[in-house]
This record gives sequence, C-alpha cells and structure tokens, in this order.
Amino acid sequence: SEVYRAGLSGTRPAVPVDVVALERAARKAVSAEAFAYLAGGAGAEATMAANRAAFGRWQIWPRVLRDVSSRDLSIELLGRRRATPFVLSPIGVAEMAHPDADVAVGRAAAALDVPYVLSNQASRPMEEVAAAMGSRSRWFQLYWSSSDDLNASFVARAERAGCEAIVVTLDTHLLGWRTRDLDAAYLPFTRGQGIAQYTSDPVFAELVRERVARGGGSGPRPKVTPTLLASAFAIARSGAHTRLVDGGVREALRSPLPRAAVETFLDVFSDPSLTWDSLAKLREYTSLPVLLKGIMHADDAARALDHGVDGLVVSNHGGRQIDASVATLDALPGVVERVGGRVPVILDSGVRGGADAFTALALGATAVGIGRPYAFGLAIAGSDGVREVVRNHIAELDLTMGLAGHRSVAEIGPDSLRAA
Ligand code: FNR
Repeated sequence: SEVYRAGLSGTRPAVPVDVVALERAARKAVSAEAFAYLAGGAGAEATMAANRAAFGRWQIWPRVLRDVSSRDLSIELLGRRRATPFVLSPIGVAEMAHPDADVAVGRAAAALDVPYVLSNQASRPMEEVAAAMGSRSRWFQLYWSSSDDLNASFVARAERAGCEAIVVTLDTHLLGWRTRDLDAAYLPFTRGQGIAQYTSDPVFAELVRERVARGGGSGPRPKVTPTLLASAFAIARSGAHTRLVDGGVREALRSPLPRAAVETFLDVFSDPSLTWDSLAKLREYTSLPVLLKGIMHADDAARALDHGVDGLVVSNHGGRQIDASVATLDALPGVVERVGGRVPVILDSGVRGGADAFTALALGATAVGIGRPYAFGLAIAGSDGVREVVRNHIAELDLTMGLAGHRSVAEIGPDSLRAA
C-alpha cells in the first residue's frame, strides 16, 4: 500500500518500477564501462538468458475466495524470523554504480530489515558498512583466498563486525570469460577498485610488506599502512598497473609498493586448488553458520551436507562465470529434493521481481537473492534507489501471494504452479 499511496499522492518513484526501464535508466546513470561490468555476463550471455527463460517455463496458478486480507511474508532463516524471504546477494565493486557503494546498500537493507551479504570485493570495508547498518542482519561473503591467514583474518573481522553467517562463493575460483569487460579492457581489481576489504586488512598489509622485502633493492622499507596501501592501489588505478604487472616502466614509481600490492592481490584473490577437504579449515576459523554459494548440482548439495554446511545458495553468479550453463531455477528442484529440508536453500540469478520470487519459493527455495536489480537502483538513485527496488520486490511478492490465494510463504508450494 505504501507504493500505491505514493502514486496516489503524485510522488513519482525514484527508480523505474519496470525492470527493463530500470536497467535502461542505470545504463544512462553510469559510464559505459561501469554498466558493462554491472550488467554483463560470461561469453555470449547464454546463461543469463537461460536464467530468465527458466522462469518463463512456470506459471502461477491462482486460487480464489480464500480470505487473503492479511498476509505474512515472514520466513525462518538460520534460526531467526525474517520479515521477508529476500536477501541481498553480494555485489562487488559497488563503487562502479555509486560513490556511496556498499554503505548505501547497507542502509537500504537495514531500513527494510533484509539481510545483506557483504561482498569480499567490496568498495568499503565491512566495518564501515556494519556501522551504517546498526543491529540489522548482515552476512559476509568470502572468496576463499590462497592465503589461510587472510581467510582467517577476513572471517574474524566479519565476526567482530556482527556478521551472522559466512557465505563462501565457490564459482569464482577463476574469473569468468566476461566479454564486455574484456572488450573494454576492464579488470576492476588491478585498477584498485573493489579491494577495500584487502586494503583495510592487517594480514594483507603484512603479505605486501613481505613481498616488498623479497623484492630486494635499497632504500627504506615502507611501513605498509592502510593509507599507504590505498594510495598504492590509487597509483595502480592511474593505469600504470598494467605496465607494472607486466614488469615494465618501473621508473614511474619511487617505491615498489604499488606493484607489490597489486601482485599480492592477484596472488591471494582465490585458490583454484580447493577441494571439499578444504572446508574443514573454515570450521576452525569460525563458529558462525557457513553457507556455500554456487551449488548447482544435487550431488554437490549432498556432499555439502556431508561436510556439515548450514545452508546453500543455488547460484550461477548471475551468468557471469560460465556461458551456456544450467539455469538456477532448473537446478533448484533437484537440490531441494536432495537437501530434504535439512538446511535452507537460497536461490539467486535471474530474479527480477516478486512473481519470480514466488516461483522460486514454490519450487522449494527458502529465500531468494536479489542481485543486479538493486545494483541498478544504486546506480540511479543511491541508497533510495536500492530501497525502492527491494521494496518493489517485496510489494510485488505480497500482491502475487494475495492474488494467487496464499496467506503466507509457507502456503506457497508446488501446487501453486503449473509447467507452462
Ligand atoms: C556479482 N556477484 C557476486 N557474487 C559474489 O559472491 N561476490 C561478489 O563480489 C559478486 N559481485 C558481483 C558483482 C556484480 C556487478 C554482479 C552483477 C554480481 C553475483 C551475485 O551475488 C548474484 O549471484 C547475482 O547477481 C545474481 O544474479 P542476477 O540477479 O544479477 O541475475
């Protein structure tokens, strides 16, 4: 009713309600390069298309005369009652959308009481976002680094910053073949974007210091402070980095620090040698619930349960990693069946509104992750834009539930749908 009341009083929305118009407005709000990064996917973007097409293969089957005058969108997730079945999926390099970046998203998530998964590739340190969110729910998303010390440090910081869960993203041990970014010669991290969790981390600073020391040379060793690290990346951002990483044009720099910082980042960003056995280590670092993001196969869901994980996120990273891959909505029922209700199963990738959320819930998702749409809202109108996009998802789900004859999320099930 808040959305309609605003319309009645003539208040125009800060962001387009229509999802196609939303993307179009975001395109206008940011640079071509930033839009390519936010909107793009892997290869020919067939996985992105498949994610959307999968929703089109289901239709909501309405029932009538069931007294839907009051509706309950709440769910139980990781031992807590949540007001709605939404979470905000982690989006790195949010500074590409808006200078307020992760802090703006955190404020919007807090205002709506929707858990926000803070990205490992954030543009603002997790402590800053946590402070902006007060006591509202946040989780931390970890890209499993080749440095155990860094993993332990990130997780410890997340605990101190009040994060309620660790979400380990498993589909980005290598960076996807991102055609739009490749054409724009854009790789955010070597340009010093989306690296705030690193520049604010004492273990990362120590790794850079060690690398500088190994590099030999004369002169005083820099004290690697967060400020110095940030400026090292700023030098990299200026474009010198490509030459530096290639090992050329060193005279551009008086100190070897920028090169060491960028090289250290590239070294520790991920670890493609991870296996299921590696999971045990994470358990040593934290007693927080651990969720695995990027589970697409029922057999992997079963293995995850064997390893005692507390939740799964069925995700293909919004089609940004593998081209021509399986749609998440198609993967969902098999995973849900294998999990058998033992842990929550969250779905993201391709969700573009409340009706999509309804479909995912009907196919067994416990909750639904919003991705690009809130990044577009951020690009258009900062924190207000994020808030409106998320609120619109909630409002559309509420109406869809009521119109289809459902009073609560618990009533949404396989019988609520028909294969198209
Ligand atoms: C992402 N995603 C992502 N996932 C993650 O685990 N860590 C991250 O840092 C990021 N960064 C990121 C940046 C951008 C610009 C996008 C679009 C996505 C993936 C994200 O969490 C989620 O899985 C997808 O966005 C869901 O797909 P849709 O809804 O965007 O299609």
